[in-house]
Amino acid sequence: MQLVFATNNQNKLKEVQALIPSEIKLLSLKDIGCLEEIPETQNTIEGNATQKSQYVKDKYGYNCFADDTGLEVEALNGAPGVFSARYAGTQRNDEDNMNLLLKKLEKADSRSAQFKTVISLILDNTETQFTGICKGEITKAKTGERGFGYDPIFKPNGHDKTFAEMDLTLKNKIGHRGKAVSQLVKFLIGLYQKN
Ligand code: IMP
Repeated sequence: MQLVFATNNQNKLKEVQALIPSEIKLLSLKDIGCLEEIPETQNTIEGNATQKSQYVKDKYGYNCFADDTGLEVEALNGAPGVFSARYAGTQRNDEDNMNLLLKKLEKADSRSAQFKTVISLILDNTETQFTGICKGEITKAKTGERGFGYDPIFKPNGHDKTFAEMDLTLKNKIGHRGKAVSQLVKFLIGLYQKN
């Protein structure tokens, strides 16, 4: 089976590739000649995931999946959520986003937060979604060099390290994207076994 993973984010590709069984050949957007930016204009994480996978299916004809992720912070009523990528502005800069979030939480009582990933899979003309959540808290300062995005300021519950201090195997095991991808893999294996 061939499946396109609709992302240009090399970090996401690395995380997901580590979890997909070798029977499934993962194609990147570059592999299918999709070099343009895919629109993400919906106002929910679910909507954006669908928009991205539907775009690839409609324009390129491939079976495909896309993920959309947001960081939901309790003290900010779920913000930045679907706006996580452009929280500090359209420059979509990780450092700016983290700095703004740390500033907004300076006087907050709660630092609880969760990452939510929604994967939209489109096989033939049917869409299926998978959701993965990882609960934790926003640290007071950035720690760690690994990962990407908000990883240096997110500490998952039950761990004393931020995502940016963990290796990929551990982040994938406990993380939002890993949980959503595990469901995707289970679903795809189920399809194989049926056929
Ligand atoms: P998107 O899913 O690529 O739209 O990501 C939305 C925002 O969340 C971007 O700022 C990403 O850098 C950030 N993000 C997505 N996944 C992760 C993650 O696993 N860890 C930390 N930040 C992430």
